[in-house]
Order: sequence, then C-alpha cells, then structure tokens
Amino acid sequence: MTRGQQATPRSRLLLVGGWSAIVEKALRCADEVVLFHGTPEEIEPVLRTTCRAVETVDTRNENACVSRARTLHQTLPFTAVAAVRDVDCLAAAGIRDALGIAGNSRTAVDLTRNKIAMRQTLAGGPLDTVAWAPAHDRATARLAIDALSAASGQPVIVKPATGRGSLDVRLVSRETAEEVLAGYPETTVAGGLIVERFVDGAEYSVETVSLNGHHHLLGVTEKLNPPRPPYFVEEGHLFPKRLPDLMLTRIRERIFLLLETLGIEHGLCHTEIKIDGEQVHLIETHARPAGDRIWRLMELALGIDPIEISFTALVGRTAALPDEVPAARFAAIGYVSGDGGPVPAIPLADAIREIPGLTESRQLYPAGTIAPPTRDSYSRHAFVILADPCETALRGNLETALSRARVACACSERPVVAEGVGR
Ligand SMILES: Nc1ncnc2c1ncn2[C@@H]1O[C@H](COP(=O)(O)OP(=O)(O)O)[C@@H](O)[C@H]1O
Ligand SMILES: [Mg+2]
Repeated sequence: MTRGQQATPRSRLLLVGGWSAIVEKALRCADEVVLFHGTPEEIEPVLRTTCRAVETVDTRNENACVSRARTLHQTLPFTAVAAVRDVDCLAAAGIRDALGIAGNSRTAVDLTRNKIAMRQTLAGGPLDTVAWAPAHDRATARLAIDALSAASGQPVIVKPATGRGSLDVRLVSRETAEEVLAGYPETTVAGGLIVERFVDGAEYSVETVSLNGHHHLLGVTEKLNPPRPPYFVEEGHLFPKRLPDLMLTRIRERIFLLLETLGIEHGLCHTEIKIDGEQVHLIETHARPAGDRIWRLMELALGIDPIEISFTALVGRTAALPDEVPAARFAAIGYVSGDGGPVPAIPLADAIREIPGLTESRQLYPAGTIAPPTRDSYSRHAFVILADPCETALRGNLETALSRARVACACSERPVVAEGVGR
C-alpha cells in the first residue's frame, strides 16, 4: 500500500515490526514511515494508510527484510531503521549495516541477543563478575554444572543462550542436572546453553536511552516478587525504584560501560541486574525497550515518551534529554499467574473498576478458552497497570487489584492442559 507522490521528505524511518502504539509514535517523529510487518492487519487501518508504505514481510527473516529494504531504498531512501520487539531487532540491524543508515549495528545487537557472546565480550573486564561456562551439548553442560556448583557450593543457573521470557531457565544442582538437561529440546541445546553461578540479591532492570551514542539513565525498575525457581517467571514491575545516590551512580557507570562495550548507539535498552551488597551483577541486556509494558510504566511515571524521543533522534531531528529525568509519580504492573484451566466469564475490568490509579487491565486468555499453567512470561493469565504519586499507596492498590484479579481469573476446574516438557 503506497500513498501518492509528495515532495521529498526530510526524514524517512523504516520501522521493522511493532504494534499500533509504536507505529503511531514513529509517525509523530519522522516525516515518513515505511513499515515492515509479518501481519500488518494487526496494525490499526488508519495508521497503515498514514504510513508511506506497508510491506508484508516476515521480520524474523533477516535476509528477506534486507533484500526488500535494498530494493525500496532505491526509490524511497531511508534515513534510519528501528525495531522495538526482540524478534525484529536482528532484521533492523542487518538493514542498517546493508544500507549504511542510522540504527544499531548488527554486531551490537547480536551481542545483546546471545548471552554467551555477551559474556565473552565482557570477559576480563569490570563487568565480568559472574562465573559462567558455555555448552553446546549435554555432556559439556553436565561438566560445567559440576564445576560451577562445586566452586560455589550452590545450585547453578542453566538457560538457553538466545532465550527470552524466562523460557527454559532452570536452577540446577549436581543431583538434578541429568533430569533437567534431558528436558531441554535438542534445538535449544544445539543453539547453546549458558551455565552461570546463581547470583543472590535483589533484582532490577535498568532502562536507558541512547541518542547518537550518548547514553541516558531513565530509571531503575524493581522486579516485584523477584523471579524464583522453578520457572523464574516475572510477576510484576514497579518504576522507578528509589535507590541511594551512590548505588545509582554505580549502576549508571556499569551500564554505560556495558553499552559502550557492546557498541550500542541508539534507542532504548533494557538491562537486567542483581545487586548483592555493593556489587552490581549483570544478568542480561536487550537493545530494545523493556518488555512487560515497562515502557508504558516509564511514560506514566516520567511524563515523557522515551521511545518517541529515541525515534526523533534517530531520524536526525533535535531530541534532548536532561541527565536526570525526575519521576512525577510511580507506576506498576502486576501479572496474574495460575495453574490453568477453563477461563471464567467474569470480566476482570468489573472486578477491579474501583481501584485508585487503575490505568489498564487485560485478561490474556479470553473467557471460554483453556488457559495453560504459567511456566514462562508467555503463559501468564492477566495483568493490571496502576499509577500513583505515592509509592506506598501504589503498592497497596496493586496488591488489592491483584487479589481481586486472581479471583476473577481463577480457572473454575482442574487444569486440563498437559504440561509441556521442560516447561
Ligand atoms: N546467574 C543468575 N543468577 C540468579 N538468577 C538468574 C541468573 N540468570 C538468570 N536468573 C534469573 O532468571 C530470570 C530469567 O533469566 P534471563 O537471563 O533474564 O533470561 P530471559 O532472557 O529468559 O529473560 C532472571 O530474571 C533471573 O531472575
Ligand atoms: Mg530476562
């Protein structure tokens, strides 16, 4: 779908993937937007027609995206390329390298997408604080589990090198190693497992935005009820987490060093850390806005739109951000997890309507369908988002909303979905 001829625009952004709210932001930031999307019908029709062009292309297929972009670039030259979803980031980076336009490099994005490659790059430097070992077969993984758990005297973490959403993340001891490793699908093992010392401490994520190579700390997100064994599913997030100035300074130094080392120049990054005493340990990072709608929490708390600011800078327009962005309020998201089963017809919205600060809520499985048991981020059942100027009130209201939501979403019968292997 292409609109009629116009005067040459000053900026043309190629957006790879995304959803309606992101397309809307892109349209506000660039003179023209071209959208690559695997299922463009998911994007609101009015937004599609406002784009200069919408191309149906599988955004997980980097070669297809690069080749389509090369062809289009001859008649519709792009200024910049951006992606905000995990699955679209490599294609966007491949296009950036192929066309020489603004965006994050393929090398930088690759390092954030592969936990082994990231740890290899950081080895020997100040961010190398977690003992780890790579494995591409079960025998090597077994040896690594034995060695790391003997060294720490504790069970260790095993996870897929290119995993996301807590899929197949396991706490493993020498005793359970055989069984857990047998549960991993062949393709996951072949794609690489990383074995890591289990890091104690509170877990946070650090949200940054990079504008033409200059990094800014937007804030730290607290992971509510920190992910724990056996599935390490994330239950909720609160933004911003108030931390002592000294710790914030240390976090800023560490994360900016990380972004520098990986070669990140543009856009939002979401870096997960654990803080044990004074020590900041890196868990993983992503060259994209935080998932679990943390990007929305940031908008609610900060009163600015960091994604829009990053798109604006990316296409060469003036976009400034002060070093400190004070939060006017706090925002939180809480997820409802469960054992699964037939989803009841009581609307979640009705159950929590009166909760102060309620901003959004959604049941992730429609009434009448069968919800699976929660084993990762993709099998959670519902969420609620709240905002409030008072952190204590927000925490209390979130608790109330979640307890009501759990009742509203509780599946009425015994779970009927068989548990997946290794999930
Ligand atoms: N080395 C580690 N020590 C302690 N907990 C960890 C470690 N690695 C991962 N985890 C836990 O598992 C969760 C998921 O792991 P993560 O590396 O973030 O993978 P994913 O890409 O699936 O989100 C983390 O949020 C954290 O709670
Ligand atoms: Mg993670």
